[in-house]
Amino acid sequence: IRKDYEAVSYHVAKYVKERIREFAPTPSKPFVLGLPTGSSPVGVYRNLVKFHQAGELSFQNIVTFNMDEYVGLPRDHPESYHSFMWNNLFKHVDIIPENVHILDGNATDLDLECQRYEEKIAAVGGIELFLGGIGPDGHIAFNEPGSSLNSRTRVKTLAYDTIVANARFFDNDITKVPNLALTVGVATVMDAREVCIIITGAHKALALAKCIEEGVNHMWTVSAIQLHPRGMIVCDEDATLEL
Ligand code: GLP
Repeated sequence: IRKDYEAVSYHVAKYVKERIREFAPTPSKPFVLGLPTGSSPVGVYRNLVKFHQAGELSFQNIVTFNMDEYVGLPRDHPESYHSFMWNNLFKHVDIIPENVHILDGNATDLDLECQRYEEKIAAVGGIELFLGGIGPDGHIAFNEPGSSLNSRTRVKTLAYDTIVANARFFDNDITKVPNLALTVGVATVMDAREVCIIITGAHKALALAKCIEEGVNHMWTVSAIQLHPRGMIVCDEDATLEL
């Protein structure tokens, strides 16, 4: 538990930096990092960019896989997760563009795109550290309530609550929010050798309580982290209100 969003962001970014340094990645043994979008990781990305600018962190030997992407939004739409990742992180660091993986929500065959994504993750030996955020309903990536805890990368219909929550990025107009997304599955996230979830704000307090104080439950998909051997939640004080 850290005091606030800023302290959470710094803690997670520093942790990522240290894990990468310890791992000492090389071109033949890259560090494979799973990444989320949303407001939760923005502060982490800001700190990672600062570390990079200070010469403390290179992304040269880092391979990334993003959690999810909307279906049907043009790649260069300001709210696509492609745009988000390039604007908030990738364009400010020395990552090799070929090492960036983000699901293509405009692929002609969406199922095939999802299957290939899983194959690409397997081909690099799996994900070392998966960072994540959660929705107020406890969803991880776009694994909405009711998603199988064994799920893999696939097409998902967004829950009405998620569409409402994300309308803030689409002129507060729910009709502009895509209702389909491609997302890694709960099992895809939990297969990572380490999982770190960022939870901040009083609006996520119920989800945090459900996630750690109740049983593993597919209605609060982030609760799967209870079974992970190296699972970590970094939250702020506001998020602990229901504990
Ligand atoms: C979307 C994303 C999730 C993210 C969630 C919360 O649903 N698919 O990966 O965790 O939003 O977003 P925020 O961090 O803005 O609260």
